[in-house]
Amino acid sequence: MKTILLDSLNEDYNSAVNKAAQILKNGGIVAIPTETVYGLAASAYNENAINKVFVAKGRPQDNPLIVHISSMEMFEEVVKFVPQKAKILAEKFWPGPLTMICPKGDKTAANVSAGLDTVAVRFPSEKTATDIISAANLPLAAPSANISGKPSPTKAEHVINDLSGKIDAVVIGKECTVGVESTVVSLVGETPKLLRPGAITFEQLKELLPDITVDKAVLKEPEKNQKVASPGMKYKHYAPKTETYLVEGNIDSFSEFVNSTKNSAAVCFIEESDKILIPKIEYGSISNESTLAQNLFNVLRKVDELNVDKVYVHAPSKTGVGLAVYNRLIRAAAFRVIEL
Ligand code: TXA
Ligand code: MG
Repeated sequence: MKTILLDSLNEDYNSAVNKAAQILKNGGIVAIPTETVYGLAASAYNENAINKVFVAKGRPQDNPLIVHISSMEMFEEVVKFVPQKAKILAEKFWPGPLTMICPKGDKTAANVSAGLDTVAVRFPSEKTATDIISAANLPLAAPSANISGKPSPTKAEHVINDLSGKIDAVVIGKECTVGVESTVVSLVGETPKLLRPGAITFEQLKELLPDITVDKAVLKEPEKNQKVASPGMKYKHYAPKTETYLVEGNIDSFSEFVNSTKNSAAVCFIEESDKILIPKIEYGSISNESTLAQNLFNVLRKVDELNVDKVYVHAPSKTGVGLAVYNRLIRAAAFRVIEL
């Protein structure tokens, strides 16, 4: 299949948006930019189109997709009913990087939800994404536009590297500003639960929903055969080919540790870069977790270019946006954590 490139930056924006919408209406699959990561979109009402998304990504059939909307009317259309707590969160955080798990509406295709009776919904803030949704007049199911298991794409070139020849089109847009996937909150249990941390933090959610808890799978490896609330959490993810370790410690202990290793590299904070004498990539400032989030996946894609046996990543804090970065890194490291 020839993948069409629709450049929304240097060519006609409206024409890129309208062509993407037309392909989606015809049952095709198109990668689109969002503020978090690029998504691989298909009509949430078209089972056959959704199936193409699973095939192109090599995604396990039991891992459900997020439905993207561009209006509150569309929200009502894809769910059975809008939970009270969803109204509260939407008021504060939509449009933006928050996904809510709600009871699934009948119109939404069964394979979007991998057969579950719930559906994940998000109203993105990136204009290109909402313009495409509105132009197609369709809610769009869109997982991250990477090959399953690889780091999520934060630039159009990541998508092209992974999916060229496997999908109908790529809308070329800006580099994603958030850099990690949306926060996922379940609103279908007795109490709300954070299933995946993101740029909307646990602390921010707790202000509005005081009884919210963090799902165990956020920081721990699910046990074999354990039923997980968010199927995506059970798979190895975001992994470079190079054996990756997550290292917890302060600036001095981290540099001392990595300097003693052989044929390895470090992913470190700007503040400690000078002290590190092995190949290294900075991923942002220790005191600004949003920069770590923004650079994370691009850095994980670069690790393999260093041609080393092992890479040691300095762990961020587990608070604020740091929790989202830590959650992705522990999966990239296949749960190999070194505590100094
Ligand atoms: O920021 C994002 O959310 C990006 C962009 C493209 O919007 N999308 C994204 O999709 O990250 P994906 O498929 O890579 O991640 C979806 C996550 C998975 O962990 C999946 O298991 C979970 O959401 N999920 C989806 N539907 C669910 C449901 N009904 N119940 C529980 N978890 C669900
Ligand atoms: Mg993904």
